[in-house]
Amino acid sequence: MTSLPESPRPAPTRAAGAFEVRLSDSPLPEPDRRALIASPRFGTVFTDHMARCTWTAGGGWSDRRIEKYGPLNLNPAAAVLHYGQEIFEGLKAYRHADGSVWTFRPEANAARFARSAHRLALPQLSAEDFLGSIEALVRVDAAWVPSGEETSLYLRPFMYASEDFLGVRATQQAEYLVIASPVGPYFAGGVKPVSIWVAQDYHRSGAGGTGAAKCGGNYAASLLPQQEAQSKGCDQVCFLDASTNSLLEELGGMNVFIVGADGSVATPELSGTILEGVTRSSILRLLADSGHDVQERPIALAELRAGLADGSVTEVFACGTAAVITPIGRLAGADFDLAVADGAAGRVTTGLREALTDIQYGRAADPHGWMHRLL
Ligand code: COI
Repeated sequence: MTSLPESPRPAPTRAAGAFEVRLSDSPLPEPDRRALIASPRFGTVFTDHMARCTWTAGGGWSDRRIEKYGPLNLNPAAAVLHYGQEIFEGLKAYRHADGSVWTFRPEANAARFARSAHRLALPQLSAEDFLGSIEALVRVDAAWVPSGEETSLYLRPFMYASEDFLGVRATQQAEYLVIASPVGPYFAGGVKPVSIWVAQDYHRSGAGGTGAAKCGGNYAASLLPQQEAQSKGCDQVCFLDASTNSLLEELGGMNVFIVGADGSVATPELSGTILEGVTRSSILRLLADSGHDVQERPIALAELRAGLADGSVTEVFACGTAAVITPIGRLAGADFDLAVADGAAGRVTTGLREALTDIQYGRAADPHGWMHRLL
């Protein structure tokens, strides 16, 4: 990225100012930090600080602070360890060529966090606190936002039930934190086509379950099928709906799209059992802007298999904050194994990835006002 002259840093917002800064007494020395953020592997390195606040049923949210990153003090009876009452989000901070730092549609993550909290009977955190915690943390750990190609600072807000109580009921005490991790591409192989195993014996979620919430339990449920996928030589698992075992839902942690030879694009509709991805909805918008025929609708595995076999489906891709847009090159299951014709360099997949990342990294105009300046 070519650097432009450093742009002046905006003043902190009132929401960020509500987080009291308690600086770490042992931040990582600069040369070590520089080495770590040069080519970070996804989710392995964490910054010097974390944002945090505490909730009690009687007192609401309090003690908003930025403090040294470190282990949590958890009582073995903490409800989250027994009943999994936990939710999380994922978003990124991008460094632009002029040194400024931006995030992408954080209000959408704040709104989804609120919906997830409702479904998991956790307390509501205001959008102001959600945005303020992110801004306050990125301000303190600004030097950790990488500037290399395809790199960013991945932000992971989460909330868990911290009450020490073994009765099964909604917690009376919760912790909210944001941790930050400099990242490169989500998949170890970089931005290359991945292979998908379609799970036919396991489901991620059913009607009325927690499938639309971003909660740890959904990801825990995906791990055994994910292991099965890997044992079959595939990178990722794809789930089918629990009621008919025939419709595509989503991958272990990403939404899925299919592209037709006629240029049409489709993704499974929001049925209540899949996650409403921020990247997914941005892609739908970008496709509509460029005049594509784009559909949110039920997609049968049989339709996809037939389309891959007869060439009427030419591209398949996965998307999410972490994975951005990742081409799928192969789709396999118990009784089929199909290559995706344009899996390696599909025109629609590549064009969308470029259009989205150009907005995120400030290389293109942002007509929808998706970018939110942090620094
Ligand atoms: C994200 O894309 O941010 C997620 O939370 C998914 C996870 C697989 C990393």
